[in-house]
Formats: sequence, structure tokens, C-alpha cells
Amino acid sequence: MRKRQKTQSTRLRSTRERVKTRLTTPAPDPRWASVRTPPYVRVGARTTVLDVTDSLTVRDNRTGAEYEIPITDGTIKAADLGQIKLNDDTPGIATYDPGFVNTASCRSSVTFIDGEKGILEYRGYPIEQLAEKSNFLEVAYLLVHGELPTKEQYDHWVHHITYHTFVHENVKAFMQGFRYDAHPMGMLMASVGALSTFYPEAANISDPDNRQIQIIRMIAKMPTLGAWAFRHAQGKPYVYPDNDLSYAENFMSMLFKMSEVKYDPDPRIAKALDTLFILHADHEQNCSTNAVRSVGSSQVDPYSAVSAGIGALFGPLHGGANEAVLKMLRRIGNKSEIPAFIEGVKNGNERLMGFGHRVYKNYDPRAKIIKKACDDVFEVTGVNPLLEVAQELEKIALEDEYFVKRKLYPNVDFYSGLIYEALEFPPEMFTVLFAIGRTPGWLAQWQELIEDKEQKIARPKQIYTGDRQLTFVPAEERWA
Ligand SMILES: CC(C)(COP(=O)(O)OP(=O)(O)OC[C@H]1O[C@@H](n2cnc3c(N)ncnc32)[C@H](O)[C@@H]1OP(=O)(O)O)[C@@H](O)C(=O)NCCC(=O)NCCS
Repeated sequence: MRKRQKTQSTRLRSTRERVKTRLTTPAPDPRWASVRTPPYVRVGARTTVLDVTDSLTVRDNRTGAEYEIPITDGTIKAADLGQIKLNDDTPGIATYDPGFVNTASCRSSVTFIDGEKGILEYRGYPIEQLAEKSNFLEVAYLLVHGELPTKEQYDHWVHHITYHTFVHENVKAFMQGFRYDAHPMGMLMASVGALSTFYPEAANISDPDNRQIQIIRMIAKMPTLGAWAFRHAQGKPYVYPDNDLSYAENFMSMLFKMSEVKYDPDPRIAKALDTLFILHADHEQNCSTNAVRSVGSSQVDPYSAVSAGIGALFGPLHGGANEAVLKMLRRIGNKSEIPAFIEGVKNGNERLMGFGHRVYKNYDPRAKIIKKACDDVFEVTGVNPLLEVAQELEKIALEDEYFVKRKLYPNVDFYSGLIYEALEFPPEMFTVLFAIGRTPGWLAQWQELIEDKEQKIARPKQIYTGDRQLTFVPAEERWA
């Protein structure tokens, strides 16, 4: 204890000395108005903020200098920290945040999430209301334009999306060139990227009208490309879009139509698919959206940016969890095995897939809606026997202290895989369905990025840990 006190007083003394030194040096960069210049610094006592209430006082114990950094919207500007320097020859302080767990990369008015309360809103509208009373294309309009359409705007939007579902025949030839067993998500990613070669004018991203037409094209063509990727793996002929059908119905037609002249979609299945698209339409700054924004920040065309988002979504930590849920439910097999499985999870042997979320510390609002959609789908397809296992698993987990204490609730993936399986989608198609739904969100965020004057090309810092100034010895000398 004594030793600790001594250490502290030593530290204060040396800080005092350092501050004295600093008091005699010129004030820091005058461009940084928020710097508390040395006359305001009080050493050894708590400093009171005199004039700015929404600010953070930071003391650099290396120099003893204190800085007042403005707090805006609950954040400080990382660049402000860059002004805190040991001296003019050393770089300023930076933050280290792998995975951006506590770093805002943008201002956005697209989607609001309150993870503690389990709230999700698109442009201010609760997801529950949109899922129940709207439809995917109206939600897409809302995300892209920021407000709900008038009747005229809606009709115009739906008309344009419907009539842009066709793709150039060369796209078809291009897709047919994939290996017979190509993963549909890989096909989708490549095909969306390839669209930039069909629409080179898309590179003119500063023209709002041009952006709008590319947005319409992409939302319209995603189901076509997704359905064709599905048919490809099955060795079936690709089905052209049917403009008489709704967005989800047309997708079903391109997926499942065989020799019939016109595909007759079940409206309950179409409604469930439409709802799933709504639920996946945006989720603020997740991995794939961040990828779209990051690639888009180079001012590349939107097809290239969205294809990067599809790549991010392809990864098992992002889009692939519902497949893992299905595998887990199959392994558990029946209700009597659940207690042993839960014990294994609590002992740290594995995770309960479809539970827990980085943001939601409450029931994921999308999971509640999907649970309801399950009932509608199973009414048509018959109940997936794994549903019983899933429901019992959820019941037990929600009462168990391990899950309660850690705020682990079902997430969007807990039930979605069951629906997709009931609709006879192979697991590889799950992320394709996710990508179709997420497209308006990616595009709304991309457009916001382009219009945001504060945005710059994404270029994070690094902490260099490698060697320096080595002397290169040519191969013939090294290997001699
Ligand atoms: C989504 C997920 C990656 C979020 O991770 P995170 O925010 O980094 O949370 P952490 O990994 O720090 O977990 C916090 C605690 O809860 C536990 N936990 C989190 N999710 C769990 C799960 N699904 N099953 C069992 N325990 C879990 C962790 O073991 C940890 O416990 P500890 O504090 O005793 O070490 C995580 O909950 C998970 O792996 N879930 C299963 C996969 C899934 O469904 N993903 C889809 C997300 S939409």
C-alpha cells in the first residue's frame, strides 16, 4: 500500500514538472480549438470543465497536458485524439478497435437499433408494423428514398422494378459457364459484379438520376440472378421473369416453374418470402453493409460495391448461422436429448446456434416475426419435425440461468432455416435469400455514403509490428 502511495506521489510530481515545461512551450496547434491550453491545467486535483459541458477531458500522463474534446452524438472524433502528441515529431494518439466494436464509421438515418430493448426501425418505422402491413417493394422504396411513397411514386417504383427483372442474354451465358456444382452465392457475387460491365455508365455515381436507375436495376435483377444460380446447381433450365407476378411470386416462378405454361404461386408462401425479405432488408452497420460502404468509398460503381457486400455475407459468421441451427437441431434429433445438449453448451462444449447477438441483448424482434411466419408456411408445407425441437429448446434456454444472465435470446437465424428448409431450399441458398432481401439496405446505405460530405475513402490506421530497415540480400547470395 505504502509503495503504491509512493509511486502515485512520484507520478504526480513528475507530471507537475512536465506540465511546467509545457507551460513554457508554445500552445498546441491553434486549428484545434478544443485544446485546453496549459493555463487551464490543474495538476493533482480534479479539473472542472469551465465552459463546455458536452466534452471529455483527457489527460496525457506523459506530458501532464489536459485536453478538452467535444462530445457530439455520444461520440468523440478520433481525429481529435490525433492532436494529442508527446512532441511534434511523434504521431498523435489513435484508437485501436479491431472489428469496430466501439467505433462509429458514419452518420446514418437508415436504420435504428436498440439492442437492449429489442427495437429495430427502418427510417423510424418499427419492423413489426412494416412486416405486418407493408410489402418488400414498399419497404425498399422507404429505405432508398427515406420516406414512404405516394400512390403514384409506389406504382412507378413497382413498375420499373418489375420491368427491369430481365438480364442481358450474355449474363445468362456467363452464368451457364459456371461449374455444374458452383455455390449459388459465389455465382450471385460474380454475376452482380459482372453487371458493372453491362452498365458502364453506373460508374457515374455523382449523378443522382443515374444512381437511381442502377438501384432499380439491382433490386429488380437480384431475384433473377439468385433463382438462376439455384437452377444451375440443379441442372434445370433458367426461367425468365414473369412480369404479371409480384416480386416474391416472380422469384418463386423463376425458382420452381417446370413445364406448366404459367406458374401458380401459393400466396401464403409468397407472403412469407416477402416478409423474410423485409426482415433482412437492412441492419445498419453490419459486416456486409460495412463492406459495401468501404468499397463504395473508393467511388467505384454500385455493382462492384454490392458484390463486395455479397462476399461478406457469404461468410459463416454473417449469413451462415441459420444453416448451423439446422445442423444443430438435426443432431439433437428429439426433445428428450435437449437437457444433455444444454448441459454441453453450459459446459462450454459448443454454442447454442441461433441464440445471442452482438447488438441484441433482448429477443431479436425479427425472430418473433419469423416464428409467426413459420406457422403460415407450415400450414402449406406441413410442419417441419425439427420445429418441435426448436420450440422446446427455446423454452428451456429462456428459463435457464446461464442464458438469462448472459442475455442470450433467439436471433433472426433461429427459425429462418426451418422455413427455408420447409420451402425445399438447400442450405447453400439461405444466404442468397438473405442477399436478395438485403439489397435495398445496401443500396440505401451506399447512396447515403455518396451524398455524405463528411465521408472519405475508408482507410484505417494500423499498428505496425514488423521489422524495419532490413538490408536486402539478393537470392543468389542468400542461397549460395
Ligand atoms: C452472435 C454472437 C457471435 C455474438 O457474440 P458476442 O457479442 O461477441 O458475445 P460473446 O461471444 O462475447 O458471448 C458473451 C457470453 O455469452 C456466451 N454466449 C454467447 N452466445 C452464446 C450461445 N449462442 N450459446 C452459448 N453461449 C453463448 C459466451 O460464451 C460468453 O459467455 P462468457 O461470458 O461466460 O464467456 C454469439 O452470441 C454467437 O456465437 N451466437 C451463436 C451464433 C449465431 O446464432 N449467430 C447469428 C447471429 S445473427
